[in-house]
Amino acid sequence: MSGKNIAPTRDEKEGLKMAAGTYERVELERELDGFLAEAMNDGRPALKVEALTKRFPRPEGKRRGFWRRRPKFAALAAVTFTVEKGEIFGFIGMNGSGKSTLIRIVSTLLMPDEGQVEVFGVDVEGNPARVRELINRVAVDAAFFKVLSGSENLRYAARLYGLSPRLARERYDGLLTRIGFDPKRLSDQIKSLSRGERQKVAAARALMTAPALLLLDEPTTGLDPRSKREVQRVIREMREEEGTTVLLTTHDMEEAERLCDRVGILHEGRIVTIGTPAELTARAGGAGTTLEDAFLKFTGAEWLGDENGA
Ligand SMILES: Nc1ncnc2c1ncn2[C@@H]1O[C@H](COP(=O)(O)OP(=O)(O)OP(=O)(O)O)[C@@H](O)[C@H]1O
Ligand SMILES: [Mg+2]
Repeated sequence: MSGKNIAPTRDEKEGLKMAAGTYERVELERELDGFLAEAMNDGRPALKVEALTKRFPRPEGKRRGFWRRRPKFAALAAVTFTVEKGEIFGFIGMNGSGKSTLIRIVSTLLMPDEGQVEVFGVDVEGNPARVRELINRVAVDAAFFKVLSGSENLRYAARLYGLSPRLARERYDGLLTRIGFDPKRLSDQIKSLSRGERQKVAAARALMTAPALLLLDEPTTGLDPRSKREVQRVIREMREEEGTTVLLTTHDMEEAERLCDRVGILHEGRIVTIGTPAELTARAGGAGTTLEDAFLKFTGAEWLGDENGA
C-alpha cells in the first residue's frame, strides 16, 4: 500500500540520472548543431577581433604608495582582424609579441580589457560558454597530469570534449600512428616521455575533435620534420573534410608559408601587416624575398650580420 515497493533502487536511480544526463547532452548537441548550421551560412566571419587591447602589470613595476596602481603595458594594442570560415590563419611574431595572449583571449581563458571578440557571431565576454562549445577547449600547450599515463590524459580530455571513449580512442590512436608515436606507449607516464613525444600526445589531444574553430598555439614546435609535416597535413584535412576554421601561431616560417592562407605579423602587441604569404613577401621587397626576410623587415629586426661587425 505504501510506495515502498515501487520506489526505485539505488541502481535504478543512478540509471535514471545517467539517462537524464545523456538526454541533456543530446539536447545541447542538437541545439549547437542548429546554431552552427545557421552560423555556417550567415556570411559573417568565423572570428572577428576588433580593437582588442589587453594590459598586464609591468613585471618590474613597483607600486608606490597605497593608491598608486602598478604601471601596465599593452600586451595587445588595438588588434583588429577577421578570419573567414574555413580559413587557416597564422600569426607570427617575436617572443613576447602577444600571440599566446591573443589565443588565450579567443579561447575565453583571459578577458579582454577593451575591444570585441566574436566567434561565429558570439561575444567571448557575453557568452563564453557558447564560445567554448565552438572551439577546442584543450590547447596544444595545455598542461598534462604528468604522473598519469598518456591514455589517461587523453581519456580525461575526451570526457571534457564530450567524446565517447571509443570514438576518442579511434581518433587519437590513428593520429598518433600517423605522427610516428606508437599508441602502445600511451601506457607510459607522461613524465617519462621526451619533449617531442609529449608534444605529439598534445597534438593528438588538440586534434581529436573537429571543432568549428580550432585554436592552436605553436602546434608543431619541438616536433621532428616528418611529424611536423604530418600534423600540418592533419590540420589541412580537418579544414577540407569538416570545414574547420583554424587560427594558429608559429615560429616556423616554412610552416606559415605552406599551411596558412593568410598570415599576420604581430609586433609588440600590434599587427604590423596581414596578407597571404605571397603578399607579405611582395610588400617586403618582391622577387627573392623570403617570408623570413619579410618577418625581419616588418619587426624591425633586420639581421645586421657579421660582416657589419654587429
Ligand atoms: N598573465 C600574465 N601576466 C603578466 N604578463 C603577461 C601575462 N601573460 C603574458 N604576459 C606578457 O605579455 C607579453 C606577451 O606574451 P605572450 O605569451 O602573448 O607572447 P608570445 O607572442 O606568445 O611569445 P612566445 O613566442 O615566446 O610564445 C609578454 O611580455 C609577457 O611577459
Ligand atoms: Mg606564446
